Amino acid sequence: MKVLLINGSPHKNGCTNRALEEVLQTLKKDGIDGEILYLGTAPIADCIACGHCHGSKGCVFQDIVSKVGEHLEEYDGLVVGSPVYYAGPTALVQAFLDRLFYAYGDKLVGKPGAAVLSCRRSGNTASFDRINKYFTINRMPVVSSQYWNNVHGAQNSPAEVEKDEEGLQTMRVLGHEMARLLRLIELGKKEGISFVPEEPRIFTNFHH
Ligand SMILES: Cc1cc2nc3c(=O)[nH]c(=O)nc-3n(C[C@H](O)[C@H](O)[C@H](O)COP(=O)(O)O)c2cc1C
Repeated sequence: MKVLLINGSPHKNGCTNRALEEVLQTLKKDGIDGEILYLGTAPIADCIACGHCHGSKGCVFQDIVSKVGEHLEEYDGLVVGSPVYYAGPTALVQAFLDRLFYAYGDKLVGKPGAAVLSCRRSGNTASFDRINKYFTINRMPVVSSQYWNNVHGAQNSPAEVEKDEEGLQTMRVLGHEMARLLRLIELGKKEGISFVPEEPRIFTNFHH
């Protein structure tokens, strides 16, 4: 089993990456494979609501979002890491997730998800809520830890995260919980427990 960990920080080896490394090392100790994907610093286009993806055609833009979306079958779980910018995930992470979930979200149904935030001081829990919203609209079990998943550090200062012992422990517990849930899901599948059949979708706009 394999987990995809997204590093949505512009800093490839910054605080967000340090937190994700702790999750990844724990997953590996627990026998789960994983890889960190750095989103880079180039802009990612927003969703333009063109509707191209309706009918499983994927996103109209061919870029890092489509590349990830086209390979989601290879992953059993998703961890999204972002620094906190003005009490939210970065615009880059939100553009990435808007398009990934809108165009390829079906491939993530039933797979555990977790958000990881890095901030200097605060705004972390609002950002945590924001990322968890993607999972909870998409039938994904949300993996929890012993605290809300965040670490503290100034920009591009993984040495500061090193001092955040509680933050790093939170990441290790998250890794263990993700590994445990993946094993439970695997066992459940062997026992014939799969996802309930989907009802025909009701889609209302409250305009009547
Ligand atoms: C534009 C911008 C906005 C930021 N806003 C916040 C904020 O609202 N709260 C906070 O605690 N830190 C804020 N920070 C600091 C980063 O979130 C923090 O240093 C983070 O740990 C950096 O992670 P990184 O090294 O992975 O980039 C901001 C940084 C930038 C560049």
